[in-house]
Amino acid sequence: MAILKILKFPDERLRIKATPVVDFDFDLKKLANDMADTMYNAPGIGLAATQVNIHKRIIVVDITSEKKDLKVLVNPYLTNKSTNQKVHEEGCLSVPGIFEEVKRPDLVEIAYQDLDGKTCRLSADGLLSVCIQHEMDHLLGKVFVDYLSRLKQSRIRKKINKGKHSNSKELNLELSEPLN
Ligand code: NI
Repeated sequence: MAILKILKFPDERLRIKATPVVDFDFDLKKLANDMADTMYNAPGIGLAATQVNIHKRIIVVDITSEKKDLKVLVNPYLTNKSTNQKVHEEGCLSVPGIFEEVKRPDLVEIAYQDLDGKTCRLSADGLLSVCIQHEMDHLLGKVFVDYLSRLKQSRIRKKINKGKHSNSKELNLELSEPLN
């Protein structure tokens, strides 16, 4: 079991676009295990490899609170989505303490590969649909706050900066901008 370090917004490495997985080997299985451990430990219901600074197309999700429905999606892509959209409140392990409403397609169909490289399909609605879309965005270098208004985004940046200040005196000295 290994807990990986989760990059925090606005870290620029969250903007790197992930590349497809080509080797379905032991290392991939180990990464998937470590990502699941990291997600459960946080705790969270989804994690993209991008968030642990590994820029490969792999996500893990488990929307159950009993940790009993782990899904590992390698090279996921959207094959269909509903025109009907729904608003859902989202949070992100890379943007701790921030929860905002985002509108996304209600239903999605996904094709992906499992850890052995076998192609699988999945239809998702509700929270699972939201979670998969959120994680797939990470693989494209996109964070859920990108969907929000500029005003909300700047409030979030300020809130995150203040959090850094209160957590660490050393960090205060390194910041070039005054608190406001
Ligand atoms: Ni996220």
